[in-house]
Amino acid sequence: MKFLSKTVLILGAVAMIACGDKKEEKEDKITIGDGTSPQSQTEAATDKSASEMNSSDEDVVEVTIEGNDQMRFNKDEIKVKAGQTVRLTLKHVGEMEKTVMGHNWVLLTQGTVINEFGQKAVQAKDNDYIPEGTDAVIAHTKMIGGGEEVTIEFEAPEAGEYDFICSFPGHYSVMKGKFIVE
Ligand code: CO
Repeated sequence: MKFLSKTVLILGAVAMIACGDKKEEKEDKITIGDGTSPQSQTEAATDKSASEMNSSDEDVVEVTIEGNDQMRFNKDEIKVKAGQTVRLTLKHVGEMEKTVMGHNWVLLTQGTVINEFGQKAVQAKDNDYIPEGTDAVIAHTKMIGGGEEVTIEFEAPEAGEYDFICSFPGHYSVMKGKFIVE
């Protein structure tokens, strides 16, 4: 469905461009598309597939989050409902190797101090930067590099607010967000 909704959006954009008489209008449309769409289109597509998923199978929610070469996630908030199975896909939309710009998605237990966890993670290079034996992680993906993606499934924890981060050294200070269970 993601592919379909993207296709519809792209066709829509083409139609709009085709309708524009003046070159100026064309350029405007193109600028709007390029300036705002990568993120908003992705989010719209994600929202749509999530709600469609909800109508057919309310126990599973699909979430997609991207990391890039600028050391950023494209979302700082993810909302799910208690009891849902979360099918989360992390996409690295950059090109850099995972040894240089690696990204993972790590959901931390409530009360975990991000800085402290991040510092422990630095020492866990051999374990994908997840401290061995930690009880501070609810779910996590493996570490990926540019062009890769990974999907995990886990049960949403009890209602509340949780932190998610990328545990690659130094990334947690900016690659983080709230995982809200309603
Ligand atoms: Co990262």
